[in-house]
Amino acid sequence: MYKSIIRPFFFRFDAEEAHHFAMNALRVPLFSKSIAPFAKVNNPQLNVNLWGINFGNPIGVAAGFDKDGTCLPAWENLGFGYAEIGTITPRPQPGNPLPRIFRIPSHQALINRMGFPNDGLETIIKRFDALKKSGKWPHIPIGINIGKQKSTLLDEAGKDYLECFLALKPYADYFAINISSPNTPGLRQLQQKDALNQILRPIVEANLGGDSKPVVVKIAPDLVEKDIMAVLECIMENQLHGIIATNTTIDKTAVPLKEDGGLSGAPLRQHSTDIIRFISKETGGKLPIIGVGGIFTADDAKEKLDAGASLLQIYTGFIYEGPLVVRSICDGLVK
Ligand SMILES: Cc1cc2nc3c(=O)[nH]c(=O)nc-3n(C[C@H](O)[C@H](O)[C@H](O)COP(=O)(O)O)c2cc1C
Repeated sequence: MYKSIIRPFFFRFDAEEAHHFAMNALRVPLFSKSIAPFAKVNNPQLNVNLWGINFGNPIGVAAGFDKDGTCLPAWENLGFGYAEIGTITPRPQPGNPLPRIFRIPSHQALINRMGFPNDGLETIIKRFDALKKSGKWPHIPIGINIGKQKSTLLDEAGKDYLECFLALKPYADYFAINISSPNTPGLRQLQQKDALNQILRPIVEANLGGDSKPVVVKIAPDLVEKDIMAVLECIMENQLHGIIATNTTIDKTAVPLKEDGGLSGAPLRQHSTDIIRFISKETGGKLPIIGVGGIFTADDAKEKLDAGASLLQIYTGFIYEGPLVVRSICDGLVK
């Protein structure tokens, strides 16, 4: 029904309008609860224990879908094993001008140039507190993806990441340091070793002691092997907990649409899997990898797990396959 009726209906609207429409529906508790009996996954075979955290299944909501954490209770009802909220920056910002998400149905892909629109720390923390108070905080692990304000100079980016990390520490099961979105000018330069160290060191220091949280770095698929090795060295030197591979790509040779922004979905699948395999080989399988990029089916998921990923995430596959995609992937993985 999703592909024959609901998706064609949604695809008549601008992609971001359709997204807001779907998110508004997901915010209505009764709506996501009514999908839960068909979508929820409950199979101990799929449990993943990572960093001492139990993930009911390996499929998570990728960053960017719920940027402001407005739909937290829904993700559990849709069967996700965890959700990554964000990217969150210290202060609210509007992101790039509309339109900024483009569908390419012929290639099961999206191009986006959102530019981190988000509500900022103050509003999001109020939202999280209200959710905790009302007892509606989800039972699945929640990762928080953090970034820098567009207006912050690259040299001073570390302050933004640290501010987000400290403020959101009580709410996150893990943190993702986003240095790989193509839509914040200069952001991806932070993947270079010295710049990355400047961001990571204060966070590692602030993470010492009692309530420490796993911290992972999210990389772009456009890094060459030498650059990935430099990121891995940084991760090892700072004893971080893992890596997310990958963000969207700026390489649009595989698709007919050449809008500015990052490409996601099916055309990214193979390359992100290759990067996962490369990281796994170079780290002897010891560094936890969250695999993301072009997962639509159980076969796609299995490919990334076989390449060395411990957890997975989806964004574009959710748009094209619909709300039962997690269940379908999980059923396939069990088989
Ligand atoms: C519209 C859109 C917005 C996104 N926003 C973010 C973001 O804010 N932070 C981030 O780290 N990744 C963001 N991403 C990247 C996704 O998290 C994911 O890494 C990428 O889309 C590849 O996965 P997919 O092929 O399953 O979509 C965004 C992707 C899309 C399509």
